[in-house]
Amino acid sequence: MRFRLGEFSAGHPMVNSPQPLRTRLTDLLGCDYPIIQAGMGGPGRSELCAAVTAAGAFGCIGMVKERPELIQREVAAVRDRTNRSFGVNLVPSVTDPVLLDEELEACSAAKIEVMVFFWDVRADIVDRAHKAGCKVLYQVGSLADAIAASRAGADAIICQGFEAGGHVHGKVTAMVLLPQVAAAVSIPVIGAGGFGSGASLVAALALGAEGIHCGTAFLATKESYAHDYYKQRVIDATSSDTVYSDVFAIGWPPQSPVRTIENSITKLYADNLLGHGPDDFPRDVIAQYEDDLVCRLSTWSPLRGMTGDMEALALYAGQVCGQVKRVQPAADVVHQMMEEAHSALTRLGSLK
Ligand SMILES: Cc1cc2nc3c(=O)[nH]c(=O)nc-3n(C[C@H](O)[C@H](O)[C@H](O)COP(=O)(O)O)c2cc1C
Repeated sequence: MRFRLGEFSAGHPMVNSPQPLRTRLTDLLGCDYPIIQAGMGGPGRSELCAAVTAAGAFGCIGMVKERPELIQREVAAVRDRTNRSFGVNLVPSVTDPVLLDEELEACSAAKIEVMVFFWDVRADIVDRAHKAGCKVLYQVGSLADAIAASRAGADAIICQGFEAGGHVHGKVTAMVLLPQVAAAVSIPVIGAGGFGSGASLVAALALGAEGIHCGTAFLATKESYAHDYYKQRVIDATSSDTVYSDVFAIGWPPQSPVRTIENSITKLYADNLLGHGPDDFPRDVIAQYEDDLVCRLSTWSPLRGMTGDMEALALYAGQVCGQVKRVQPAADVVHQMMEEAHSALTRLGSLK
């Protein structure tokens, strides 16, 4: 068995916190719980990452296509709040090479310990991150990409299922993908897509994973950088309310599908949800965030401080949104998941 109950890692016992649950993943990342908060570009900034990390799970800041100055500021802001290790998420294959180089340089200069990459597997980027002293987690959406990421030297693979929120890189559910990847690679495997409870963490462990990677479960937390309108839409949504499309196309390469909550845009394109690219649409500004003008059909989601037409933006969320019932502190989400995971393990342990 690869996980052990009741062992505190790295000397961080917390009063009133659930018992740690140790796997090869928690050993790799130096956290107490095998739960990674996905580095959601936009909502997943320093406040959320620090809250999750300080609670004993593993937080990530989502810095896809962000300027190096913001990376430096956000990393410093996490370090002001916790001295535990956390990750930075980038998406190499969709980022302009010059910006990607600057982002990686900023992470290296900041001595980031863990990089989480997504989308097409880039062996050169894995290599560069390793040379900078980072561990590399690679999120993929297929068995073939999982094998490619493992061969590229990744330290762990995140298997993203079709039910996931945000950009979705595969066509297979996590339930089906996870055990196949776990059987094919020897490094730790992590489930993503649909995981938002302790019971689902235990299910992932049963399928051969050593942890879970959750976006939607942390989207409506107090510390998330999502706009309050967006948090409320996540809370109100049922699992049947998400739509898989590539209509939110401006900002990523052609035909990059996403899962979002149904809105006026997905209703408008209901008969034509797939096959789009950034050049198919005019640039109509419908919102503003700081100095940035936000276009209709772009990959922007509603963020704190944004003004304009929030309803028409990309309301990324996975099918597990049906389990998100209220805004609460991220630490409570982590601890509730772990209480539930321990109960589920006890329940399963008593089966004859
Ligand atoms: C709001 C949101 C934004 C996301 N942004 C990113 C991102 O910037 N980089 C990334 O690697 N994955 C991103 N994802 C996908 C997550 O990494 C992960 O695959 C997904 O959240 C897992 O499914 P779940 O939403 O059911 O937990 C995002 C997901 C959501 C919900």
